[in-house]
Amino acid sequence: MQPLRVGVVGCGQIAQVMHLRFLEELPQFRIAGVCDLSPTVVERIGERYGAPVRCTDYAELVTRNDVDAVAVLTMEHADVAIMAAEAGKHLFIEKPIGFSLTEADRIIAAVERAGVTAMIGYMKRYDPGYEYGAAQMRQMDDVRLIRVHDFAVDFTAHLPLFTLVTADDAPPGYPVERQPAIEARLREALGPSHADLVGLFSMLLMLGSHDLAILRGAFGAPAGVLYSDAVSENELLSVLDYGPGRRCVVEVGVGSELLWWDEQLTAYGRDTIVEIGFPNPFVPYAPTTVTIRSNEDGAPVRKEIPVSHQEAFRREWEHFHQCVGDGSPPRTSLAEARADVELAIAMIRAIAV
Ligand SMILES: NC(=O)c1ccc[n+]([C@@H]2O[C@H](COP(=O)([O-])OP(=O)(O)OC[C@H]3O[C@@H](n4cnc5c(N)ncnc54)[C@H](O)[C@@H]3O)[C@@H](O)[C@H]2O)c1
Repeated sequence: MQPLRVGVVGCGQIAQVMHLRFLEELPQFRIAGVCDLSPTVVERIGERYGAPVRCTDYAELVTRNDVDAVAVLTMEHADVAIMAAEAGKHLFIEKPIGFSLTEADRIIAAVERAGVTAMIGYMKRYDPGYEYGAAQMRQMDDVRLIRVHDFAVDFTAHLPLFTLVTADDAPPGYPVERQPAIEARLREALGPSHADLVGLFSMLLMLGSHDLAILRGAFGAPAGVLYSDAVSENELLSVLDYGPGRRCVVEVGVGSELLWWDEQLTAYGRDTIVEIGFPNPFVPYAPTTVTIRSNEDGAPVRKEIPVSHQEAFRREWEHFHQCVGDGSPPRTSLAEARADVELAIAMIRAIAV
């Protein structure tokens, strides 16, 4: 298969820290073009990665004959993704799929009409540590409690880790003027009774969708939401129903001041506990650790398994390439991402108001 020619729409933080470097170094890909609202960012990123096409209007990039796939790395995905799908391009879309089910459905309908491959960038699902730990968890037949914990520091805390190309020459009003439109979609998704919890919902989609995706990957979909509590305006606690005798506690929030990344998926069996500890996603090649505590020959044993230095963001691109090549469905499908938005809505609506 010839290298896949990728048009990158949105050259902000996650594009610069992760995606562009892997699209450049993996031989399966060529960066066919880059697009950003900021002309300076486009020019500097285009120069850095030798992108032949550089533009500020995504329509110019995603409709080109010499583009096979589009990476949607903007905050708002639907309009870019739909135009690209209609032009017959395969899609890599960052998470969350959208801010409402309506948006997710529009993208899914366009992808189905076009018959293209489309995948959501839930990179943790491609992390070798996660794959190993989730396989261990699936082998346990007596898991009673599952716990997903993700307390993140303010999203600006990791900015000193790298130097981003930024500029203030995006069209006047961006991104501030986009906020009311995004908020309106978040409110509509929640419905009038819970519309005031829009900040918590946004946090759950932006940060917690990763946690819902790793939970779904290991244990499938919950039967329902039993309880939710807004601990603060940025912190949520929920209990999910995983059938008789099995519950999942979800603790997710932003605002911690911890100097390390505090995110784990843990499965508690009767004599074994398996925990996957995730690294800071903005640190390339940081390994994920699996810890297994169990009874062995009458003694408590704790094994810590540093699984691999392979990078989840790199592996998700390899998977995308394989799916486009052989037409197989991506592990992180749009349907799953839609189900995560649906679950997030149910979790917020379970809060007593
Ligand atoms: N997988 C992860 O761990 C992870 C981490 C961070 C962000 N993300 C996701 O990646 C996406 C982008 O996040 P970010 O932190 O890089 O945001 P960002 O604001 O740093 O970057 C977004 C970029 O898109 C550009 N843009 C916006 N609208 C555009 C348009 N219509 N046409 C062209 N360019 C446009 C902006 O100018 C900006 O440079 C979001 O969906 C976010 O949820 C994922």
